[in-house]
Amino acid sequence: MADGPPHPESSNRPRSDLLLVLRKFLTNARTVATVAPSSRALSRAILRGIDWANTKTVVELGAGTGPITAQLAKVVPPHVRVVINEYLPEFCAALRHKFPAMDVVEGDARRLTEMLAGRGFTQVDYVLSGLPLTHFVPADRDAVIDQAGRLLAPGGEFRQLTTAPWLYRGLYRRYFREVSFRLVVWNLPPGGVYYCRGWIPPEERAAR
Ligand SMILES: C[S@@+](CC[C@H](N)C(=O)[O-])C[C@H]1O[C@@H](n2cnc3c(N)ncnc32)[C@H](O)[C@@H]1O
Repeated sequence: MADGPPHPESSNRPRSDLLLVLRKFLTNARTVATVAPSSRALSRAILRGIDWANTKTVVELGAGTGPITAQLAKVVPPHVRVVINEYLPEFCAALRHKFPAMDVVEGDARRLTEMLAGRGFTQVDYVLSGLPLTHFVPADRDAVIDQAGRLLAPGGEFRQLTTAPWLYRGLYRRYFREVSFRLVVWNLPPGGVYYCRGWIPPEERAAR
């Protein structure tokens, strides 16, 4: 077999996950917002460079069928607490089946603070979002990003997956002082990750 990055449609994703995502997309297009789970390359990119030694808590939002969770499970050290969030019950069932050791929370990411408070967290080091935030109405997007921003520990990061490379850099720059982007072509469609640091509170955004 040839070396090199796997083809985005190949062994990256079990066939059953593809079918489940496709089926849920047909009935919940706005929520699911994709026809296929993220590739392994994209899922790894969102974890790139995480400073595990100094990380206590990681939250994944909009986990879907768990392509990022799968990569996370491979690399997360035992001292790090991980919360996996997903809205759709069928995806949560799939996540619990595949990752019985993970804390999977079924619920709306717009209630992030409450969700984490219920688990005793008031601060997180990384928020990894697969949420279709650009499909959210602005008030809901503000709600998710501002809760994540408030919860971030000093030096913490909000990371967002995208399948519309470069298009939304300006959007994330409204919320964060530092935004960088990494393109990942090995995904269907090609995508990338926004790495965001230094949350800008709403009062400051309004004054800009
Ligand atoms: C684009 S898919 C990404 C799934 C997965 N992370 C991946 O990379 O393949 C978006 C996911 O966000 C979930 N989602 C949408 N709105 C949500 C919300 N308000 N709270 C939690 N999850 C949500 C959807 O059900 C879906 O699983």
